[in-house]
Amino acid sequence: MPRADLVVVANRLPVDRVEGPDGEPIWRRSPGGLVTALEQAMHSLDGAWVGWGGKPDLEVEPFELDDTLLVPVSLSREDLRDYYEGFSNGTIWPLYHDVIAAPEFKRSWWDAYVRVNRRFAEAAAEHVEDGGFVWVQDYQLQLVPQMVRELRPDVTIGYFHHIPFPAYALFAQLPWRRQVLEGLLGADVVGFQRLADAGNFQRSIRRLLNYPTKGDTVTVPTIDDDPRVVISKAYPISIDANHFLELAKRPDVIARAQQLREEIGSEKLMLGVDRLDYTKGIRHRLKAYGELLADGRISGHEATLVQIASPSRPGVEAYQELRDEIEMTVARINGDYSTVENTAIRYLHQGYPREEMVALYLAADVMLVTALRDGMNLVAKEYVAVRGDNTGVLVLSEFAGAADELGSALLVNPHDIEGMKDIMMRALTMPPAEQARRMKTMRRKVFDNDVEKWGQSVLSDLREIRARRRSQ
Ligand code: G6P
Repeated sequence: MPRADLVVVANRLPVDRVEGPDGEPIWRRSPGGLVTALEQAMHSLDGAWVGWGGKPDLEVEPFELDDTLLVPVSLSREDLRDYYEGFSNGTIWPLYHDVIAAPEFKRSWWDAYVRVNRRFAEAAAEHVEDGGFVWVQDYQLQLVPQMVRELRPDVTIGYFHHIPFPAYALFAQLPWRRQVLEGLLGADVVGFQRLADAGNFQRSIRRLLNYPTKGDTVTVPTIDDDPRVVISKAYPISIDANHFLELAKRPDVIARAQQLREEIGSEKLMLGVDRLDYTKGIRHRLKAYGELLADGRISGHEATLVQIASPSRPGVEAYQELRDEIEMTVARINGDYSTVENTAIRYLHQGYPREEMVALYLAADVMLVTALRDGMNLVAKEYVAVRGDNTGVLVLSEFAGAADELGSALLVNPHDIEGMKDIMMRALTMPPAEQARRMKTMRRKVFDNDVEKWGQSVLSDLREIRARRRSQ
C-alpha cells in the first residue's frame, strides 16, 4: 500500500472525472481554491489526498496524478443524501452560518456523518507514513481528527475549518455538539479563518466540555493523566496572488476584458461572483441595486450589474428555493428597468474558467461581496490581486472573514439596504485617488499574506509539535 508523509483529507478530491478524447473516463485537475492552496505544501512533502471522486458509487483504486497519490473514497447515493446534502449541508452549513437558513437535525443524517467520516479516517490512516502528517479540511469531516488519532496515534494531525465557527448560543443547538468538539480536538492544531471563530470554538469547549483554554491552547485531559495540548488559532486562508496577477497581464485576458466592457456598453460595471448560496447575500445585493434603479439614483445605462451565480448543491431544498427566488427577482428588475439596448442585470447561472473570471474582474469598476456570513471569501482577494493599476472599488461585507484583513474596502452591513445603496453610490462615484489609496493598502495585504504563507504557517506549527513530541 503506497504511503505518504502528508495526507490531506478533504470531502472532494482535487480532480474531476471527465470523458477523455476516446470517450474513456479520465481525471482532470479541478481549479478549486483549496487545490491551489495546498499545492505548494503537497510539493514540498511527499503528499497524498483522500477525498470523494465527485460521482456516486465510484469504486476506484488509489492512483498517482502529478506526483500526488489520490485516494478516492466511495460514496453511495444514500451517503450523498444523508452525509453530504443532509448533515453537512442541511445541518452544519446553515447552523455555522448563523442560521440564515434553518438547520435540520436528523438522527439518520448524523449516523451517516459518523459512518462516512470513519471511512475517510480509515483511508487516511492507511496511507500515512509512520510519524507523518494528516491534514483534515473543513466541516464535512469534523470527526476525522479524533478517528485518525485512535487509529494512528503516531501521526501529527491538523484540521482547518474553512467556514465560520458559530457563537456558543447557536452551536449549543446541535444535538451532537460534544461529539463534534471531541472530534475536532483529536487534532494537534485546529485552524480557523478569523480570531472570532477560534474564540467561539474555545468558548464552546469551556462551556460544554469544561476543558481549560488559554491563549491559543486547549488542554485536553487524558486517561493516563498526561494532558494533551491542542493549538487552536486563526490562519486566514488566501490565494496565489501572483498567479492571478500573471493571468491579468496576459494579452488575451486583457483583450477579453476590453471586449466585455464594450459589449456590456454601460458607463460603469458592477460585478458579483458567488456560488449560488443563501449565505452570499445575493438577494440583498439585488434588492439594493433594484431600489437604486427604482429611486432613479442610477439608470441601467449608467451602471450594469453582472451577477455570476455558479450552480451549487442542487439537491438541497434551500438552494432550490434560493434559485427560484433570485431568478424571479432578476426577471422582475430586468422587466422593469432594462431597455431594448441595455440589460440592467446580467445574471449567469454558470461556472467559468479562471481566465474568464479574471477578465471580468478587470472589466469591473466595482466588485460586490455582500455575504451575510462567509468564512473568508477568496473572490474579494482575487479582485484585489488583479487590479495592478490600483483602480477599482471593493465593496465588502463586514461579515466575511476577508474584512479582517481588507479593512480598506468599503465595508457594508448587507442587512442594511439603505446603507448598502449609499455605499454602492459611493463606490460608483469614488475619485481615482481614493480608489488607488484603498486598493494599494489591500493589495499589499493580499500579496504579503498569500496562500503559500498560509500553508507554511500551518505546516510549521505541525512540524514544531511533531519535533516536540519526538524529543519527549
Ligand atoms: C465552501 C466550503 C468547501 C466546499 C465549497 C464548495 O467553500 O468551505 O468545503 O467544497 O464550498 O461546495 P461543495 O459542496 O460543492 O463542495
